[in-house]
Amino acid sequence: MKPEIVRTQNFASDAAQFILQHAHSALAERGEFRLALSGGRTPRPVYEEVARAGRDLPWDKVRLTFGDERCVPPDHAESNFRMAREALLVPAEIPDASVLRMRGEAEPTLAAKDYEEQLSQLAKASGEAIYRHDLILLGLGDDGHTASLFPGTAALDEKQRTVVANFVPKFEAWRLTFTFPLIAAARHVCFLVDGTKHSDLIEKVQQSDLQYPAARAQAAASAVTWLIGQPTL
Ligand code: 6PG
Repeated sequence: MKPEIVRTQNFASDAAQFILQHAHSALAERGEFRLALSGGRTPRPVYEEVARAGRDLPWDKVRLTFGDERCVPPDHAESNFRMAREALLVPAEIPDASVLRMRGEAEPTLAAKDYEEQLSQLAKASGEAIYRHDLILLGLGDDGHTASLFPGTAALDEKQRTVVANFVPKFEAWRLTFTFPLIAAARHVCFLVDGTKHSDLIEKVQQSDLQYPAARAQAAASAVTWLIGQPTL
């Protein structure tokens, strides 16, 4: 399916509204909103805006997961959970029970298995073969990675598992990440991207150049929106 492409000079507010619209429709249809957060720096202002504009969302009916995590403790400067906690979880007073944290402080393969098992339990409780997110937020790295699916890494070949530990040689570090099968199971995927960075890469990924993991995620997804922040003129 062709991706929807939205370029905006009001990135944070437009992205926040997009997320909240998906929240309201999921809550209306199924009484629950399953959202996977992306990491890195780009989403931070979006999460801050979601916390402000979405204060009245029934957060106890929202389940937040993380598309990937660095293998560091939750209070580490590099932790995606820490960024989300500061920008969204605390400001929006989201209950701990609504948040499924990847345990970056644990041994990577155990942490991945643990997270995968939690998603599997939730899926089973809903009669699903695989956990189905309503919306997975994804970023885009300058090498075309998304989540922690980096070019040339083992996780790209995972066809069964939903969450794996993935060693990333360029960082000499382990990451925890969603796999393509879990991304494919989502109702909608949204790339949140800073349009001032790697604009030609964005084009190549959107044109499905499958050397880039982000393009493979786009191809796997059933519905895709690109929200691309443009500099204000
Ligand atoms: C991570 C992210 C990663 C990120 C891209 C873009 O843990 O780093 O999940 O996939 O989205 O690297 O990062 P920036 O938003 O910082 O450019």
